[in-house]
This record gives sequence, C-alpha cells and structure tokens, in this order.
Amino acid sequence: MTRNATLTFDGRTIVLPVIEGSEGELALDISELRARTGLITLDPGYGNTGACISKITFIDGEKGILRYRGIPIEQLAKHSTFTETAWLLIHGRLPTRTELAHYRDRLTYHAPLHEAFKHHFEGFLVDAPPMAILSAMVNTLSCFPRHSNEAQPTTEEGEFYEESTRLISKVRTIAAYSYRRSMGLPFIYPDPKLPYIANFLHMMFSMPYEQHIASPEVVDALNLVLLLHADHEQNCSTSTARVVGSSQANLFASCAAAVGALWGPLHGGANVAVLEMLEQIHEGGLSAEQSIKLAKDPKSGFRLMGFGHRVYKNFDPRAVILKEAADKVLGQLGVKDPLLDVARQLEEKALSDPFFIDRKLYPNVDFYSGIIMRAIGIPTNMFTVMFAIGRMPGWIAQWKEQHADGKLKIARPRQIYIGNRRTEYLPIDQRK
Ligand code: CMC
Repeated sequence: MTRNATLTFDGRTIVLPVIEGSEGELALDISELRARTGLITLDPGYGNTGACISKITFIDGEKGILRYRGIPIEQLAKHSTFTETAWLLIHGRLPTRTELAHYRDRLTYHAPLHEAFKHHFEGFLVDAPPMAILSAMVNTLSCFPRHSNEAQPTTEEGEFYEESTRLISKVRTIAAYSYRRSMGLPFIYPDPKLPYIANFLHMMFSMPYEQHIASPEVVDALNLVLLLHADHEQNCSTSTARVVGSSQANLFASCAAAVGALWGPLHGGANVAVLEMLEQIHEGGLSAEQSIKLAKDPKSGFRLMGFGHRVYKNFDPRAVILKEAADKVLGQLGVKDPLLDVARQLEEKALSDPFFIDRKLYPNVDFYSGIIMRAIGIPTNMFTVMFAIGRMPGWIAQWKEQHADGKLKIARPRQIYIGNRRTEYLPIDQRK
C-alpha cells in the first residue's frame, strides 16, 4: 500500500509520497517540494535528511543495531576478518572460499607502491600530519594507472574489482609509509608472504635488519578494530565521498576527500582526542567527577570526547564490543594501562549523570578503540589513519552503489540567504 503525507502551506495542500525501507524506516519524499510549492527544507547538519537509498548498512540508533549487508556487527566481529568484511560490503554478499582466496591474492599483488611514490613522501616534512599525507597520497593514486602488463579484466565490473582492491591494499602501504616518514625511518616493502594486517604491521614496525612479526593477539585486535570501522552508512566522511563522487570525480579523488572529512575531532579524529583527553585527566590528577563537571559546563569548552553520537541514542554496539575487547587484549598482552581505568570511571560516572542520560550520550566507537590501538603499539598520531584504513571499504561500497544505479545526480544543496540585499559597489576612496 502506498503511503502519503499531506503538507498545507499558504492555504494550498499537496500530497507527498512516503518511502519505506526494508526495516520499516520512513522518509518523506520531498524531491518535488520546491517545484510544487517554492519551499525548500532547512536541515543544518542533515540530521533529518536522507540523501540516498542504500542496501549497504543498517543502523537503528534507538536499539543500538548495526548490520553490514544485513549481518549483525556482533556476528562479523566474532567470525569474520577485515578483508572478508571489506568484500562483503563492496560486493554485496559474503565471498565463497575461492573468491576470498582470490581477493587475498589480489590484495597482496597490489600492496607495493610505485617507486615514484617515494619521492612524494620525501617531499613532506618529517613531522607532517599522517592524515594530510594519507589524503594527498590516496589522491595521487589517480596519477598512477595500473601497470599495462597487468592482466586487464575485460568487464566494467572486473575493472572496478581491481581498482577497489588496489585502493584497499595500497591505503595500508601509504599509511605505513606516512608513519615511517613522520619518524624519519626508511620505508619497508610489503612482504608477499604476509596477510593483510600482519603485512601492515611489518611495514610499520620492521627494520631493514629485523623483521617485525606481529603476534596473533595483536593481529586479531587490529582486525577487530578495522572491521568495526568498516562502514557506518551516511556519516560525515562517507557523505563527503558521495558528494565528491556525485560530480563524476574518480574513486581515488572521492576517497581522498573522505579522508579529509574523517580527520576532524568530531568524526574520526575523536580517537586521538579521546586519548589526549584521558592523558590530560590522568596526568592532571583530575577525578572522574571533576571531568564530568567540566564536560557539562558549556563555557568550559571541554567535551567528553568519545561520547555522544548523531545516530546512536541508546548505545553504540561497536563501543560495547570494543570495551570487552580492550579488557581482553590488555590482559593477553600483559599491558597495564592506567588510561583504561580512567575511561571506565568516566563512563560509569557519565552514564549515571542526568546531563548525559537526558541527552542520550553514550560511549561511541572511539572511546575504547584508542586504548586497544595504544596497547598494540599504534602511535597516537596514527589512530585516525587506522580509522581511515578501516573505513575505506565503506567509502568504496557507497561510491560503487551511488554509481551503479545509473541515476547519478550531482549533490547540490540549497540555502536560505540572510546576507545583504542588493548593495551598490563603492569605489575604494569612498569607503570608511
Ligand atoms: N560531551 C558533553 N556534552 C555533549 C557531548 C559530549 N561528548 N556530545 C554532545 N553533548 C551535548 C551538547 O553540548 C548538546 O547539549 P545542549 O543540548 O545542552 O546544547 C547535546 O549534547 C547535543 O549535542 P550536539 O553536538 O548537538 O549533537 P550532534 O548530534 O550534533 O553531535 C557528536 C554528535 C558526536 C558530534 C557529539 O556528540 C560530540 O561532539 N561528541 C564528541 C566527539 C566524538 O566523540 N565524536 C566521535 C563520533 S563517533 C565516530 C564517528 O562516527 O565519527
């Protein structure tokens, strides 16, 4: 049955169609609104705006549900790997054993960067922010088409398969190289014998004379962190990838822009901000009560980083998994981190405080992910880069979906203008 809504404005009533998603989500289709009424909608931050129809990720923020292609995040966290989950997101279903083996082969094949990249990396100052390097280098991949001697897939789908696999693979090499550059260390080539995550850790931490072999616990922990970040429907960076993609910019340019959006502390940069906040609280000897008091005071300029979410208004299922994982990983590695205690105390106090309860503020994915990354040796300035590696499958899947339905429409929101009305140009000698 078709459902409609009616809108009355200036004595005129129009009927607007209501679209229903497979999980019962409802949307008012306002695509004809301006043409029929002269009105636009005003929705700063797009909190009530559906920008697309998607089959990739489902979130129910009230119930704390997150599913990739219908599969609950808890099941993927338990049984899947980052690379399998990437395949699932991008290609729409779980891969068969043969498909997964082929995917892993292609990821390994694409891991090295063109030698010319080294010169690009050398052009950055040694302490350049790794997110800036990452964004620039992802974009630079557009300048390096695949080698002409590679087996060229003949179909468009095959072409996209190779390009997207190349990006998933190379983003980790770029990330590792940006870290090596920031430390003034020599670049380490990928090792074709190592799988995706162990290979990344090798490129990050090996020395020319000593190969770094990551323990299975470390590889599993990083697998989990990346997998939990792999997609989150129309968040800030994904929407950026779609907006850029909507102008028919290529996959690399769209994902490079998404890296920029992810960088900010209200989005992916929150994982760095959480760690800095926990360190500040710990080193400054602030109690959980004092910190919560500060966070509640709008004049303090202090927010409880890693808390709150635009969509989750009950709990963030990723944070639940990561909280448990933080305990486990630190235990397995024999790491004692006082910041974990600070985080636990803050969470406990915040969750029983009316300010946080009334505003439905809960720990988000970034609250515990930094503690895990720190325990496995990832430096703080690389946390958001790790988020970007994790989110790459999501950006790619969303870009692919946007282009697949043949109805690519350039993103071009409108505005309500509140500036000067017509004003005449004043010659410079008449200005005060
Ligand atoms: N600490 C203290 N107060 C907060 C916090 C916080 N972390 N988050 C929201 N509030 C308050 C805010 O001051 C406002 O209060 P009032 O109604 O009195 O003005 C109310 O809660 C609503 O906040 P908002 O900023 O309007 O909510 P939003 O949906 O626009 O923002 C958010 C969501 C995630 C940007 C915000 O909660 C925040 O800044 N959190 C800290 C940064 C963070 O952890 N970001 C990572 C998000 S999860 C990873 C990702 O997907 O990127």
